[in-house]
Amino acid sequence: MANTILIGAQWGDEGKGKIIDVITTEHQWVVRFQGGNNAGHTVEIGEQRYVLHLLPSGILRPDCSCIIGNGVVIDPIALKKEIDEVEAQGITTRDRLFVSDRAHLILPYHPLIDASREGRAQHQEKIGTTKRGIGPAYADKASRTGLRMGDLLEPDFAASLAKRIRENNVLLEAQGAAPVAVDETVARLEELAQVLRPYIVDTVRLLNEADQRGESILFEGAQGVMLDIDYGTYPYVTSSNATAGGACTGAGIPPHRIERVIGVIKGYTTRVGEGPFPTELHDVAGDMLRKDGNEFGATTGRPRRCGWFDAVVARYAAMINGIDFWALTKMDVLDRQPVIRIAVAYEFEGRRFESVPASARVLAGCTPVYEDWPGWETDTTGATCLADLPGPARDYISRLETLTGVRAGIVSVGPRRDSTFVVDEVVRR
Ligand code: IMP
Repeated sequence: MANTILIGAQWGDEGKGKIIDVITTEHQWVVRFQGGNNAGHTVEIGEQRYVLHLLPSGILRPDCSCIIGNGVVIDPIALKKEIDEVEAQGITTRDRLFVSDRAHLILPYHPLIDASREGRAQHQEKIGTTKRGIGPAYADKASRTGLRMGDLLEPDFAASLAKRIRENNVLLEAQGAAPVAVDETVARLEELAQVLRPYIVDTVRLLNEADQRGESILFEGAQGVMLDIDYGTYPYVTSSNATAGGACTGAGIPPHRIERVIGVIKGYTTRVGEGPFPTELHDVAGDMLRKDGNEFGATTGRPRRCGWFDAVVARYAAMINGIDFWALTKMDVLDRQPVIRIAVAYEFEGRRFESVPASARVLAGCTPVYEDWPGWETDTTGATCLADLPGPARDYISRLETLTGVRAGIVSVGPRRDSTFVVDEVVRR
């Protein structure tokens, strides 16, 4: 099977974990390449529900090997906790989970700095982060003051960490936040280093050797295009490249080794945290989407903001990522809506926008230009192919395809592994 990148095409929470789990049967390797434990990928298998934050979703398939690549920022405490949790659910991680020695560490002062910044920010400046320390860890990476997974195993790790903690304590205290206990934290991290030691390897080499042997690799994106630090609604974004290009830098795979890009997109739109969201709903239709779609954050439990499908965002995502086909998720969540709207363009101060403007101020002022489509008001959760869907649902999908210039190759009509079908004429195997 082709080496594949799978990314979120909206503001994250598109249901990537479930789609990855379904297509993992076709891949021997699953690789995370950006983000950290800000992500929350939910997968339901039978009666069992798994929420993964750092571990690649492939960990749920016993014959699949998983890599946490160099582009990810790793909180070692969170990583250990997640390994323990999945192991307690009967999943083995030894000899099938590999963590890059080049991946940067999220250290205990990073979440504190993140929370302190968010706490001090005026309303307009708040990003609504997950407070997991993602931004400060990537900032240290770019400032060349970060520590990496490989450093955990270096003889001078304790001294380097103690130095960094003291430097960051100055910052924290200046902001009125509690400092990090130096000796206790160093001891805890040294202990963790020994537990995590067997997982830490040169994943770049491992991955490229697997590729040369002809084994097939799935690159699992976290968050989504509109949260990408370059292409998203800056500054209301995360601190990594959630777009397809991020897979090459975040895993160390050459671009020409990628054969396919899948964009995961919901039949409507959601966003968590602050920032512009043109199709956001503040009415009963939005409440219905939140309730029917169980739109509450997998990581923070926050209610997600809900709105109509935004074809401007989807077209933009298709352009930047070169999407071969959509995995269109949560179509069943629209089952109760009598009328379904699609934003086909925006208007701002008399100007029409067919693509996403760079300025968050302009995007926040944009009014969507809507098309109205009749709802189907029928239960679609049992559908196993396009023909099983009611006519208006098929028309809706076909309109999304026309507006975005990309076909739907996978359609999902419920949270379980088996409520997903592939449109064979679209998906080349
Ligand atoms: P951070 O990644 O914690 O710095 O948060 C930055 C922004 O990205 C905030 O608006 C978060 O709510 C959002 N965000 C981060 N991770 C996810 C995710 O996995 N799904 C949806 N939103 C996310």
